[in-house]
Amino acid sequence: MPAVVVVGAQWGDEGKGKATDQLGARVDYVVKFNGGNNAGHTVVIGDEKYALHLLPSGILSPGVVPVIGNGVVIDIEVLFQELDALVARGVDVSRLQVSSAAHVIAPYNRTLDKVTERFLGKRRIGTTGRGIGPTYADKISRVGIRVQDLFDEKILRQKVEGALDQKNHLLVKVYNRRAITVDETVDDLLTYAERVRPMVADTTLVLNKALDAGKTVLFEGGQATMLDVDHGTYPFVTSSNATAGGACTGSGVGPTRIDRVIGVIKAYTTRVGEGPFPSELLDDMGEFLRQTGGEFGVTTGRPRRCGWYDAVIARYSGRVNGLTDLVLTKLDVLTGLEKVPVCVAYDVDGVRHDEMPLDQSDFHHARPVLEELPGWSEDITGARTFEDLPTNAQRYVLALEEMSGTRISAIGVGPDREATIVRHDLLG
Ligand code: GDP
Ligand code: IMO
Ligand code: MG
Repeated sequence: MPAVVVVGAQWGDEGKGKATDQLGARVDYVVKFNGGNNAGHTVVIGDEKYALHLLPSGILSPGVVPVIGNGVVIDIEVLFQELDALVARGVDVSRLQVSSAAHVIAPYNRTLDKVTERFLGKRRIGTTGRGIGPTYADKISRVGIRVQDLFDEKILRQKVEGALDQKNHLLVKVYNRRAITVDETVDDLLTYAERVRPMVADTTLVLNKALDAGKTVLFEGGQATMLDVDHGTYPFVTSSNATAGGACTGSGVGPTRIDRVIGVIKAYTTRVGEGPFPSELLDDMGEFLRQTGGEFGVTTGRPRRCGWYDAVIARYSGRVNGLTDLVLTKLDVLTGLEKVPVCVAYDVDGVRHDEMPLDQSDFHHARPVLEELPGWSEDITGARTFEDLPTNAQRYVLALEEMSGTRISAIGVGPDREATIVRHDLLG
């Protein structure tokens, strides 16, 4: 099973980091193909806890070649902060490869991200403020800075001049900020150029050759389906393709080479930032999920909004990603609930929708149609086979599988690497 894509099936933070890390011992390459340091993945290995943002979670597995693909936007300073922090903890990061075509987050794009949000006021997206949106906007507008530009100061300077010509008008005249100089920007971008140079590679060639040689490549998606710029809850999304198609464009590996697409999905739902969320709980139950599930952002520390599992979204994710498997995470968080409601459809102004409404305004008005499933009170964190789970927990999993339309191949029962039930081998 050489090429496997892992994506988030909801609004992020489903536990993709743990899922990727778990497969790490059995894969040769782990590729991050979209997003940047807006991601936050917590990986727990024994007593050690790691928080990764820009680096692929595969970096924690000895033997894995971690790759940052062309679809990623890189904050070079953050890259080295993360690498240095891992080295200080004894992690070998020497195999990291970085695409020469990946775009770099210039300092003015961090500034623009923050001021744009402030300017939007009540209409803000609730971004992570890392410069992600403006950097992807530059990429599409063809005024972006790429990793390869860091090795030719003359070209870099020209590109920065071109970009700042426009941006300074915006910063000064619209946002009332000081103008940013070309010199300070170029100096900033060149700070780490010599450090990054040995890592830079034609990662498309590297990955295709690896697949030719029968190696196993795991494509690790940042963010998630409902945050995808095309398929998510636009405009309350991130600025990249976090769905499975992004694995191809963001790494230069064609769709004919992908064998399996795994969606990671929580046993309930969370979202960080603004935007519609039909099954959201604004009451004590939402607080219960937040506290029990530890639902606070790894990147910004913001409390995550919490709600019930949404089977409409699970079906939608299955479709737009072509999911072959689901990894259901955090089942243990639901332990102790007498009943566990699941959103099976939406009610939009009295009309039932079994699938995602066509119109965004309808999704904003969608109220969840809930079906209650019986809960369980037994501690399940030690369960390692499906049969170890209490009957009602088994029923819950089987009901979600039926409603979601994709088989549930693994179940998370705790944050630790080992706390997983495997029903079907994800790489077999
Ligand atoms: P990611 O962005 O998709 O990698 O997810 P995050 O790391 O942002 O959030 C998932 C959180 O849930 C992390 O703190 C994980 O350690 C934790 N986690 C993952 N799987 C499980 C699970 O099955 N049970 C519990 N209790 N925690 C889990
Ligand atoms: P992982 O990989 C959850 C959200 C932000 C905001 C929107 C746009 O850990 O699942 P951006 O800074 O990307 O322009 O913000 O997207 N967001 C995430 N939410 N998990 C993430 O990553 C996210 N990355 C971005 O909160 O609503
Ligand atoms: Mg996260």
